[in-house]
Amino acid sequence: MVEKLRGGIVNLRPRINRWTPSRRDLNFSASIHSSLVQPHFVVAGEGVDQPIDSMPGIHRQSPDVLLQTIAADMKLGIHSHMLFPVLEEQEKDSTASAASSKDMPLLHVIRQLKSQFGNDIVVMTDVCLCTATDHGHCGIIHDEHIDNDLSVTELCKIALSHAEAGADYVSASDMMDGRVLAIRTALEDAGFVNTGILSYSVKYASSFYGPFRDAAASAPTFGDRSSHQMDIRSGYGEAVLEATTDQAEGADIIMIKPAMTYLDVVRKVADAVSRPVAVYNVSGEYSMVMSSTSDDESRGKMVREIFHSFKRAGADIIVSYHAREAVSRNWL
Ligand code: PBG
Repeated sequence: MVEKLRGGIVNLRPRINRWTPSRRDLNFSASIHSSLVQPHFVVAGEGVDQPIDSMPGIHRQSPDVLLQTIAADMKLGIHSHMLFPVLEEQEKDSTASAASSKDMPLLHVIRQLKSQFGNDIVVMTDVCLCTATDHGHCGIIHDEHIDNDLSVTELCKIALSHAEAGADYVSASDMMDGRVLAIRTALEDAGFVNTGILSYSVKYASSFYGPFRDAAASAPTFGDRSSHQMDIRSGYGEAVLEATTDQAEGADIIMIKPAMTYLDVVRKVADAVSRPVAVYNVSGEYSMVMSSTSDDESRGKMVREIFHSFKRAGADIIVSYHAREAVSRNWL
C-alpha cells in the first residue's frame, strides 16, 4: 500500500471523512452549526484557567479544566474541537523535541476525549513546530534558513504521536513543502489508515495572527514567516497550486487561512478541489469583532453575517473562536 502511495497510485482515502457520524456532519452538512470547530489552548498543570488578554472569552486551560469546557461544548452540540499545545519556555529547544514527547498534556486530552465521547467527537490537533522551538519558527533552522526536509521529519513524529493518542485529524499548519505526503506515508506505515489530515494548504504570512501568537507563546524571536507562509500579494494561481498539491498528496480537508480577507481565494480554491474546504477565522479577525462591538446583539449579527460569507464563498468547515458563543447564544 505504501509503495503504491509513494508512486502516486493510491494517495487518497476518501473514507476517512466518512468514518464516523460526527466526521460526516462536519464535512458534509450544509448547516453552519455542524460546520463549526472550536479552537482550544492546552497548558500543563491542574486547575489552570488563564484568560488571554488579546482574545476576550478565550482561555489557556490545563487538561482537567479543558475537559470540562469541552464536555459543556459537546452538550451545546459543538462536536468538533481543535487543540493547540502551549509550552513553557524551559521546555523549548531548537528542534522542538517537546512537541513529539510522550508526556505532552495534549496527548492526555486527546485520549480522555476519545474515551469519553468516542465517535461523537471530532478531535483535531495542530501539528507545527512553532510552539516548541526556542526561536518560535515553524521549522528547524539550518544556516539561517528553515530546513524544509528536517522540519518535515519532526512534523511526522508529532503527527504520529497525535494519531497514536486517537486524534481524528492531524492539522499541518507549518507550510513546509511535501509534508502532507510525508505525514500520510508515516500514518500508513504505522497503520493509522483512519486518521485524517487537515492541511493548512493556503496559509498567508498574515498580520492577523498576532493574538494567537500571544496565546500560544509562539511569536518568532527574530525575522518573520515569509519564507514559508504565502505572500499576501500572491494571486490565485499559487493558492490553487498549494491546494491541489496537498489534495494530491493526500490531504482530507483543505484549509484557507485567514478567512475574512481571503474570501475570493476561498471561492477559487473551493472550485478547484474536490475535498472539503475549511476556513480559519483567525485570532486577529476574532479580536477585531470583539473590540468593535459593545453588546451581544450587535456582535451576534456581525458573527452571523461573517459565517454566512464563509459559506457563500464555498467553505464546508469554519474554525472560529466565536463557535461557542454563536451556538450558546443562538446567533445562527
Ligand atoms: C501555528 C499556527 C498559527 C495559527 C494557527 N496555527 C500561528 C502562525 O502561523 O503564526 C494562527 C491562528 C490564529 O491566528 O488564530 N503555525
